Amino acid sequence: VAALDWLEQAAARVDADGLRRNPVPRRADEDVIDLAGNDYLGLARDPAVIEAAVRATRTWGAGSTGSRLVTGTTTLHAELDAALADFVGTQAGLVLGSGYAANLAAVTTLAGPGTLIVSDERNHASLVDACRLSRARVLVTPHLDLQAVRSALTGRAEARALVVTDGVFSADGDTADVAALQQLCRDRDAALLVDDAHALGVLGRGGRGSTTPDPGTVVTLTLSKALGAQGGAILGPRSVIEHVVSTGRAFIFDTGLAPSAVGAAAQALRILQADPDLPGRVLQRAHDLAELARHAGWSVAEPAGPVVSLVTGDPGTAVTSAQICLEHGVRVGCFRPPSVPPGTSRLRVVARADVSEDDLARVAVALKAALPG
Ligand SMILES: Cc1ncc(COP(=O)(O)O)c(C=O)c1O
Repeated sequence: VAALDWLEQAAARVDADGLRRNPVPRRADEDVIDLAGNDYLGLARDPAVIEAAVRATRTWGAGSTGSRLVTGTTTLHAELDAALADFVGTQAGLVLGSGYAANLAAVTTLAGPGTLIVSDERNHASLVDACRLSRARVLVTPHLDLQAVRSALTGRAEARALVVTDGVFSADGDTADVAALQQLCRDRDAALLVDDAHALGVLGRGGRGSTTPDPGTVVTLTLSKALGAQGGAILGPRSVIEHVVSTGRAFIFDTGLAPSAVGAAAQALRILQADPDLPGRVLQRAHDLAELARHAGWSVAEPAGPVVSLVTGDPGTAVTSAQICLEHGVRVGCFRPPSVPPGTSRLRVVARADVSEDDLARVAVALKAALPG
């Protein structure tokens, strides 16, 4: 129809920029080493995690049947709220439908007109969208620039301020100096929100993430990476969680997380708590993968977390290199703008605790073949 004719031109532009995207279905029986997903601890297919999901479904049904404020809070949800908070060391916790929703609900609860938000330029898209939705004044600071954060907080006109950052940045795999940010926020009377989607289960003591317990710090999580399930969470002071419950639109107007995901995440958390060496195995594999890539000729920084980033620059080259890896039986991520800044398209290779020595040998061959000429 005429109203949608503009899409043809828009699609041509996407193609010309090398930015067409396509969800390619995975087959259950494929013989591929997956270094594209975020199943850092290899728990998405863990038999006990799967069994917990099945048990939760048998007990509670396939869906949670309503918003968490109506029928969507089962005892399983309440237990996971508390277990996550207890693990990370916050007063309270709240499970939401996704990490994306957790960021929307947390930021819009903590900031509004009259608040200054200070946001790192490489923050995840869900934090960026949350900042926009909050209608607060948003000041974007250069990546990892503590001095810029300090100046923004010191020079602000607003009484209230919120600093938002990824703990581990999802595309580059580098880490924020969370301890310094916590100190800075204490000194400057600002709240701090850390999105620890990629740090839970990998960084910190026993995988507790990048924060240390602090009354001014709020943590957001996804249950879909190290915990191998689905969903998100906000952890922090009880006053914050209570305010999200009463006012957070992304919490209130969203159906409670499916029981299967809650059961799976709770079991994955139990496994993580029982095996404090698991996070170290991810970091070892990240180091191994970076080493392999270096040997294959890629220029690669030492990873600080699970993400190893191999920059090609050009988006078409990134797509071709990822395709060559797949032809060699290794799936890697391919990040292009707007996921990363223009000119920094890349392969994103993700470490998992359960990658074997044999797998590493296959990855070495694939990365060598995929090196841009
Ligand atoms: C840093 C970060 N925050 C939030 C999210 C969103 O979490 P979810 O996929 O559970 O919505 C992601 C990725 O998925 C992420 O990488």
